[in-house]
Amino acid sequence: MLVAKNLYKSYKEVHALNNVSLSVQEGELYGLLGPNGAGKTTTINILTSLLKPNSGEILYHGKSLFENLNQCKKMIGVVPQEIALYEELSAIENLKFWGTLYGIKGKQLQQKTEELLSFLGLSDRKNHKIKTYSGGMKRRINITAALLHDPKIVFMDEPTVGIDPQSRNLIFEVIQELHSRGLTMIYTTHYMEEAERLCDRIGIIDEGKIVAEGSLENLKKASTIKEEIHVKFTNAPKEDLLNINNSFPNQVLVQENQLVLSTSQANTDLPKLIQLCTNANLPLEHLQVKNLSLESIFLELTGKSLRD
Ligand SMILES: Nc1ncnc2c1ncn2[C@@H]1O[C@H](COP(=O)(O)OP(=O)(O)OP(=O)(O)O)[C@@H](O)[C@H]1O
Ligand SMILES: [Mg+2]
Repeated sequence: MLVAKNLYKSYKEVHALNNVSLSVQEGELYGLLGPNGAGKTTTINILTSLLKPNSGEILYHGKSLFENLNQCKKMIGVVPQEIALYEELSAIENLKFWGTLYGIKGKQLQQKTEELLSFLGLSDRKNHKIKTYSGGMKRRINITAALLHDPKIVFMDEPTVGIDPQSRNLIFEVIQELHSRGLTMIYTTHYMEEAERLCDRIGIIDEGKIVAEGSLENLKKASTIKEEIHVKFTNAPKEDLLNINNSFPNQVLVQENQLVLSTSQANTDLPKLIQLCTNANLPLEHLQVKNLSLESIFLELTGKSLRD
């Protein structure tokens, strides 16, 4: 459905995208996972024609995006990272505005608006001004606006950042429902849990490059890490934890009174870790060996934490 080849984009001296290629099949939910500044929004903006790449090719059903702009744009829905709504207008009025831009009118627009507001759980607030909405509700209106013209592919740029858990769960349910109806979606996030939970395939992006791509299962298979050792301390100075970090280069994530060690050999790394903790007089509160997560795969590939 969508093929992007060798995309480059610089903003003056910043190389935001450095040879990004990806393809998305019909009906697929593709996740772009990466930390702040990785190039997620730049990728979305280029794939949706808001931004021109310095070079590279984008094809929708084999046709070039920039040579068939109008035709391609009809297929595309975008939920931008920045909320794009008129605060002084009600939800209905905002959606009418967007609908008119897409060329939808009259009864058809009204029907579609009502149907989508109900789908996103906002029917009872539809006549209220946007400025009275919570962040999560605004985000849901943004999703509604992106769906008005029945797009074939929808891009969602970090749709759950900074919102309440209720809206977040509702958005997950909506995405899963849209996925089960066969809509093609590209979803960006810096939350590995979201990518793990929602996406058929995940592209891990860092510093403008896709450093790995595949289903969660395939990413795990390709990783040399087999397990994660999670250790919680009653009270551990950060300095001591960072010292442990030095004994396992690129394998340890340090948080407050906690560390996670990614390992391909728990049988030798676990005793070594316990010995280091004992030597440093660090009282262990809890220790658990878990299956690996995207977080350790990201650490393995980039040498840093997704949460930095
Ligand atoms: N308009 C711009 N002018 C200059 N530099 C930019 C501009 N937009 C983005 N950048 C830079 O390009 C790089 C990629 O930014 P981008 O917004 O695509 O990242 P992102 O993955 O979406 O990050 P976030 O998770 O913070 O949304 C960053 O280094 C950013 O500072
Ligand atoms: Mg972004």
